[in-house]
Amino acid sequence: DEYLEEIKSFETQSPEELEKFRIRFLGSKGLIKELFGEFKNVPNDQKKAFGQKLNGLKQAAQEKFDSLKSGLASGGSDRKAKEDYTRPGYPFELGARHPISVIRNEIVDIFSRIGFTVAEGPEVEDDWHNFTALNFPEEHPARDMQDTFFVENEGDEKLALRTHTSSVQVRVMENQKPPIRIIAPGRVFRNEAISSRAHCIFHQIEGLYIDENVSFADMKQTLQYFTKEFFGKTKIRLRPSYFPFTEPSAEMDVYWGLETEADYRMTKGTGWLEIMGCGMVDPNVLENCGIDSKKYSGFAFGMGIERIAAQRYGIGDLRYFFENDVRFLKQFKAAY
Ligand code: PHE
Repeated sequence: DEYLEEIKSFETQSPEELEKFRIRFLGSKGLIKELFGEFKNVPNDQKKAFGQKLNGLKQAAQEKFDSLKSGLASGGSDRKAKEDYTRPGYPFELGARHPISVIRNEIVDIFSRIGFTVAEGPEVEDDWHNFTALNFPEEHPARDMQDTFFVENEGDEKLALRTHTSSVQVRVMENQKPPIRIIAPGRVFRNEAISSRAHCIFHQIEGLYIDENVSFADMKQTLQYFTKEFFGKTKIRLRPSYFPFTEPSAEMDVYWGLETEADYRMTKGTGWLEIMGCGMVDPNVLENCGIDSKKYSGFAFGMGIERIAAQRYGIGDLRYFFENDVRFLKQFKAAY
């Protein structure tokens, strides 16, 4: 009973004291072990009561030890310590934004400064919004199984995972009257073999500007502004290209220079880095979306976020973006 009292009233903040307590009661030469050694000398009719008492003692000592130990491990559970408001707080680790989010936020920020607002659309999209309204001919290869993930459904509507964010253009034009100034960041899906340079899931940012008298020069100026803000570069070029939904269409490159070895590698020795597709919205698309193509014109552009993020951070393999290895993700802690 005396020992039990001693165990129950024992308190300490010091690991050394706690260790002394453990040795005294629970050690291999400790008190409880010794008392168990007395067992053989106890008269038979008292063995049961003696055994119960000893087990109780052992349990109390173990519990006391465990609770003091965990208190010490968590920095002291002692009431006095808790009341000390001058102690520094417990450290806790801040999370990090995903690099794709960081780049997307930056791009959204840059366009929002010139009046663009964010628009969103569904990732599971119908044929009309992803292809038909965007002037894709019926037999266009992009509609092919090879590129598109079709979604099984019960109705006769053909559903698929959107292959680009241009589907959001259509949804916005169907629902808003010009002037329209939106950017649409989002996830897109293509049935491609996964490698260091391609993935079946990636992210794009779409831009759309529709008003009266919008010209190709307006587009160029807007993209030049973006390039300067985002990359800190001023020289761009527009190469003729083709998209079903824009006419004329172009590919925009940024001049990167050829100063470092990385410049050579990134630009394949040309100094130019391909950034986005763009063009004047095809009048057919405007009409498909209920916008008078005689009165209004506009431009659209679309860029892949992974590519830009890879360039910004020097990431050589796109798969890192989707593996969610914390060692990779932790590196972006300081980014916004
Ligand atoms: N949707 C095109 C693509 O995925 C990019 C694009 C958007 C081109 C808007 C022109 C205008 O490649």
